[in-house]
Amino acid sequence: MKSMEKIVSLCKRRGFLFQSSEIYGGIQGFWDYGPLGVELKRNVKEAWWQDMIAGHNELVAPNDAPGTFEMVGLDCTIIMHPQVWKCSGHFDLFHDHMVDCRESKKRYRFDQIRGRWVEYQDKKIFVATMAEQEQEFDEVRRRGMKYFKLRSKDAEKLSVEDLSITIDKLDDTTQVLAPDAKTLDTLTEPREYNLMFKTTVGALGGEDDYTFLRPETAQGIFVNFKNVLDSSRVSLPFGIGQIGKSFRNEITPRNFTFRSREFEQMEIEFFCPPDQSHAWYGYWRDRRLAWYKSLGLSDESLIMREHHKDELAHYSVGTADIEYAFPFLPEGEYGELEGIAHRGDFDLRSHMEGKLDPKTEPMTVELGENGKPKYRGSGKDLSYRDEATNEKYVPHVIEPSAGADRGVLAFLCEAYTEDEAPDENGNMQTRVVMKLHPRLAPIKAAIFPLVKKDGMPEVAQAIYGTLKKQFNVFYDEKGAVGRRYRRQDEAGTPFCITVDTQTMTDQTVTIRDRDTLEQSRVKIDDLTEVLTRRINV
Ligand code: GAP
Repeated sequence: MKSMEKIVSLCKRRGFLFQSSEIYGGIQGFWDYGPLGVELKRNVKEAWWQDMIAGHNELVAPNDAPGTFEMVGLDCTIIMHPQVWKCSGHFDLFHDHMVDCRESKKRYRFDQIRGRWVEYQDKKIFVATMAEQEQEFDEVRRRGMKYFKLRSKDAEKLSVEDLSITIDKLDDTTQVLAPDAKTLDTLTEPREYNLMFKTTVGALGGEDDYTFLRPETAQGIFVNFKNVLDSSRVSLPFGIGQIGKSFRNEITPRNFTFRSREFEQMEIEFFCPPDQSHAWYGYWRDRRLAWYKSLGLSDESLIMREHHKDELAHYSVGTADIEYAFPFLPEGEYGELEGIAHRGDFDLRSHMEGKLDPKTEPMTVELGENGKPKYRGSGKDLSYRDEATNEKYVPHVIEPSAGADRGVLAFLCEAYTEDEAPDENGNMQTRVVMKLHPRLAPIKAAIFPLVKKDGMPEVAQAIYGTLKKQFNVFYDEKGAVGRRYRRQDEAGTPFCITVDTQTMTDQTVTIRDRDTLEQSRVKIDDLTEVLTRRINV
């Protein structure tokens, strides 16, 4: 059975992920990638960059695309001019709602406190908890019993509702027993809380010297739009991609790396003529979903959630989230992996004219109390002149915005499998196997001499030396071969290459497939070609 607990424990045990600063007790919302994790994450980012940017052929329209288009990359700084965040809207609008508990002095994100109604002798209270999904029911029952001072023998006198909901769905919080409280009604009204990390630039540190760590990579792309246009001769439609760190001071980071305070994004801002934006939005939405499937996420665990018309800004033709059934969520619930948004011309015009008021139609610059623009734009012309028609306009933008860490987490969750495989004595044993797509697997192949004698280690080491130039491979001669297979299964290594007695006579080795357990014989000289083919399926 797949569970978050098992996945987290394997990640630590095998060096995929560690808590940041663990020896000092850790720091909430920050995670380090270990030797296997760093390879996996690099492979996810590399696959994205190759499939979206570097490998894109601008001469041919891909299947289902409205036409041909160009793709280029960018790598912007994390710290930018503070005006960027004023014009983007993050300074005023980028907040979550949080509540404080007057009794425990703890702070929670309003939409993340979950719980159930419990009833004892006609008194009904809502027991709230921050426990993980697997422990939620038991935790609610335990705290409900404690509140009503019930002993274990009276457990059945307490009824606990089947439905688990978050407290933002309640009419009020007067009957709520907060996650760390002993009495009811201890939560404050929800308050807004800006998620950007403030930082100071330079030694003086006055009010004029502060700015923010970027909460998204997207704005670096918008403020460089003109630089890219002027320097790379791209013409519309085209996309600019960027991978990089983003920072959000999340109120309650949780669910392993899902909601972190430091994370990486893989974002594309795709610029197109306004009248084509509908078609390009549909294209990117479908293409991004197909990308996750091509790397192994199953149909059943992925959904595309189109935002309802009421949720959209009036200038947007659509926003959709690609969501994954993360195991920490209750059955039937999904968590966001990536958002694909139609952003109209909001960002480019805001950086040009001054922050626009998204509620105005057509959008006009938001004014401050003195009647002047609340946040002044750059004044630079960020429009585009179509050379064929000589028409000048501000492009519309489609934004597929993915989280690299959420992607890694989804691939890890999907890959975790328990099945049965024979041990070194031929007895069937439960094995844990990470069925990662070969493109994403941290180690592509492990090379084993069957025994540590008869010239086998020398041949295996020579193969290792050759393959290492092209692939991340691993050499292991320690322990029984069955145990060596098992270790590689847990690491997600798709292929194990074994040098045996036959190798010494005919220069062939066996390749064992991690998922089917099938073994085939391959000539040593063909290994590079065979691995290349089998990795890039
Ligand atoms: N530029 C648009 C933008 O940033 P978003 O929906 O806020 O949109 C995009 O973020 C993606 O970034 C999310 O779908 C998610 O994968 C990732 N992401 C956002 N906040 C995150 C967090 N606190 N921890 C990990 N990943 C996060």
